[in-house]
Amino acid sequence: MYIDLMSPKKQAETNNKNPKAKKVYIETYGCQMNQADSEVVASILANDGFAITDTADNADVILLNTCSIRDNAEQKIFHRLSHLRQYKKKKFKLVVGILGCMAERLKTKLIGERDLVSIVVGPDEYRSLPSLINQAIKGEQGVAVELSKVETYEDITPLRTEGVSAWLSIMRGCNNFCAFCVVPYTRGRERSSSYDSILQQTIGLYESGVKEVTLLGQNVNSYNDLNAKKDFPKLLEGIAQALPYLRIRYSTSHPHDMSDELIYAHEKYDNICNFIHLPVQSGSSKILKKMRRDYTAEEYMERIAMIRKNIPGVSLSTDIISGYCTETEEDHQMTLDLMKEVRYDGAFMFKYSERGNTLAEKKYPDDVPEEVKTRRLEEIIFQQRAIAGEINEAEIGKIHEILVEGPSKKKEEMWQGRSDTNKMCIFPYNGEKEGDILKVKVVSANSATLFVEIKK
Ligand code: SAH
Ligand code: SF4
Ligand code: F3S
Repeated sequence: MYIDLMSPKKQAETNNKNPKAKKVYIETYGCQMNQADSEVVASILANDGFAITDTADNADVILLNTCSIRDNAEQKIFHRLSHLRQYKKKKFKLVVGILGCMAERLKTKLIGERDLVSIVVGPDEYRSLPSLINQAIKGEQGVAVELSKVETYEDITPLRTEGVSAWLSIMRGCNNFCAFCVVPYTRGRERSSSYDSILQQTIGLYESGVKEVTLLGQNVNSYNDLNAKKDFPKLLEGIAQALPYLRIRYSTSHPHDMSDELIYAHEKYDNICNFIHLPVQSGSSKILKKMRRDYTAEEYMERIAMIRKNIPGVSLSTDIISGYCTETEEDHQMTLDLMKEVRYDGAFMFKYSERGNTLAEKKYPDDVPEEVKTRRLEEIIFQQRAIAGEINEAEIGKIHEILVEGPSKKKEEMWQGRSDTNKMCIFPYNGEKEGDILKVKVVSANSATLFVEIKK
C-alpha cells in the first residue's frame, strides 16, 4: 500500500486559496481519538474541495466533534450550540453539524437542536460527510450513524496540524463493555488497522519530520492484526526496530491486556517511552467487579509490580472514577490506599456520571449522593497532587532527555518539551528549535511541571 502523506496538505492549501471553496471549521471535544478523527475528517473534506479554516467567524460550515463520556461533556456542547446561534443570525446559510460520540448516542434527536443542527454523523460514517454537507447547503437535513465492523480509515492520511508529535489511530471501538461506559455504544465493535498500513504511516511521518508518534485506541493494547499475525507488542517492536529514532507512545491500555510481552518490549527498545497510562478506576475489588473491569485490585497491583521490576524509572498514570454505584467509605479508602501504594506520576480523576443504556444504568442505582461524590473526589485529587509533587521534587538534579515542542503555553520567554516519562518540562528559551532532542537537568518542580536547564 502506498500512502502519500503530502496530498491532503497540498489539497488543503489549494482549496484554501480558492475563494469559491466552502470553508469548514471543525471544533474538537473529548479524547485523543476524537482529535485524531478530526484530522481524518479534515482530510476527507479537503479531498472533496472544501477549505479548512481555524476560526468559526467566517466559516460556511461548523462541525462539532463531540464527546459523551460524562454528562458534563454533553452539556458543554449544548452550551456551545446556544453560543453558535449568533453566527447563524449573521449568516443564514450557515450549516452546523454534530459529529462523534454524541452524534452516535443521540442520533436524530439532535436534528434541529437549538434551531441550528442540520447534520448528525457518527464516528464510522465520516466518508459520507462531503455529500451530507453539500445537501445541507441546499437546505436538506442528514443523519448518518451506522456503526461499522470494519471501518478503520486506514487508507486516509489525516490532515495533521504541523508539529513534532503526531497521533495515529491504530484501532477503533471497544468490546469491553465496562458497566459505566458509553464508548462501546458510541464507537462500536473493536477492529484494528493493518500492520502494514500503520508501519507505512509511521515511516511516512518520520520522514516528514515527526519525532514522536502516539498510537491510539480505546483499548490500544488489545490491537491485533489477525491476517499479519501481529498483536500489540509485535506492532510496537516492528515500529521500534524500523525507526529507532522515533519516540513511540500509546494510549489507552487496559490492565487485562497489559501482557508480559508488552512490558518486555518497553525493556528492550529505548525508543518506546518509559510511560504507561494504566487506568485502574477503583481500588476496591468489589467495585471493580461491579464495573466489569475484569481484574481485582490484587491482579492490578501484580501488573504494576511486573512493570516496575522490568522497566526501571517508568512513569505511571491512571484514571479514577469516584462515587460509582454502591461505593462505600471503605471502598473509597481502598482507592486512596491503592493510589498511595502505586504512587502515580499523574491521574485523571472523575465523578461517576450515569450514562443511559449502560449496564450500570440498568443494574445498579446511582446511589452515592452528589456531595459525597464531590468530597471523595476532592480527597483523591488532594492526595494525588501531594504524591505527584513529592515524586517530581525527587527529580531535582536528575537528567532527562526532552523533545522540544515550542513556546510554553503558560510562561512567557519559556519553552516547553516533554521527557521520555511524559513530564512537562519548562526551560528558558535560548535559540532551541522545535523537534530538538536535548539532555536537561531538573532544577525545580511542582506537581505538574519540571523546570529544567539545558545541559551543554
Ligand atoms: N478506554 C479507556 C478510557 C476511556 S474513557 C480505558 O478503558 O481506559 C476515559 C476515562 O473516563 C475512563 O478511564 C474512566 O475513568 C472515565 N469514565 C468513563 N465513563 C465514565 C462515567 N460514566 N463517569 C465517570 N467517568 C467515566
Ligand atoms: Fe470504556 Fe472500558 Fe472500553 Fe475503556 S475499556 S472504552 S472504559 S468500555
Ligand atoms: Fe468521549 Fe467518545 Fe472519546 S465518548 S472520550 S470522544 S471515544
